[in-house]
Amino acid sequence: MRRYVFPVIVAVLVAVGWVLVLPPAPMAQPIAFNHAKHASAACVLCHQGATTGVRAGIPQADTCTRCHATAPGGKISEAAWTGIASGRRIAWQRLTRLPDHVAFSHRRHTGPGQLACASCHGDVAQRTAPPDRAPVRLVMTTCLSCHTREGASEDCAGCHR
Ligand code: HEC
Ligand code: HEC
Ligand code: HEC
Ligand code: HEC
Ligand code: HEC
Repeated sequence: MRRYVFPVIVAVLVAVGWVLVLPPAPMAQPIAFNHAKHASAACVLCHQGATTGVRAGIPQADTCTRCHATAPGGKISEAAWTGIASGRRIAWQRLTRLPDHVAFSHRRHTGPGQLACASCHGDVAQRTAPPDRAPVRLVMTTCLSCHTREGASEDCAGCHR
């Protein structure tokens, strides 16, 4: 039994190191959504909480069908759209995600006259296909460098609960 302990510990350390060092694995979205083709719509039409809530949210079919009474074309088949339009949940993956110990509110940052979405999310609005990882990786230094520049709070307890 003893002689297995060391190799097992090594294996666990390698696995943990692997997870910490590697960038997050790419994620595929269920629909090849094209932001650029939707540029005429306001961001908040689809991301309803982005200026008024904590979470921005990713839209479900009830939002899509406000414009697409029939299949929109592109890479999505008529049959797949029928399923979605009749209420099947679209399993969007959230890519930008903070750990639970951090408090973040969209409203606080995007209320009237405040920051543009692109100042944190980069060029998402121009993408012709869904990004497969967070378009901008938001880490503590990203938050802090803007807070320093804008004179916003750098108090640990402001961001950490
Ligand atoms: C017609 C609906 C629609 C509109 C309008 C729209 N989006 Fe999106 N957005 C989506 C969908 C669907 C996804 C998930 C698939 C993807 O990433 O392409 C998404 C994903 C995103 C993400 C990635 C979220 C993550 O998990 O990291 C960001 C950021 C984003 N949108 C910002 C914007 C901004 C900024 C605008 C306005 C310039 C905008 N969106 C307009 C539907 C929309
Ligand atoms: C505000 C109206 C509006 C809403 C809401 C909307 N769309 Fe669209 N969508 C459009 C328009 C307009 C086009 C055509 C753009 C073009 O062909 O230039 C389009 C095109 C598309 C296409 C084909 C684009 C391509 O790749 O060729 C797909 C797929 C699509 N929409 C999916 C969605 C999904 C999924 C949602 C919900 C998350 C959604 N749309 C919500 C207006 C809308
Ligand atoms: C100050 C930086 C910042 C600004 C400005 C900002 N976001 Fe975000 N956004 C974030 C962070 C951080 C997350 C991840 C939040 C989490 O995990 O709790 C996020 C997550 C998202 C998501 C993923 C879905 C969700 O509900 O979490 C979408 C979509 C999104 N933002 C859209 C927008 C749109 C649209 C705007 C402009 C109206 C915007 N964001 C402005 C930082 C920002
Ligand atoms: C592009 C600039 C920018 C970025 C990036 C940014 N913030 Fe902010 N943040 C601000 C500004 C400006 C304020 C002050 C808003 C106000 O006066 O209500 C603020 C306020 C806050 C507050 C309220 C602070 C308090 O106690 O009054 C929290 C919490 C916060 N941000 C968290 C975050 C987190 C977490 C991130 C990174 C994921 C982040 N912010 C990224 C500009 C930014
Ligand atoms: C403006 C927001 C903000 C402020 C202020 C802030 N943090 Fe953070 N912190 C974050 C975010 C976002 C993360 C998660 C992303 C990451 O790991 O970089 C984080 C992560 C961390 C982590 C975990 C790092 C890891 O590797 O998992 C520690 C520890 C931490 N912060 C300590 C602090 C301390 C101590 C202070 C005060 C001196 C502080 N933070 C102030 C936003 C903030």
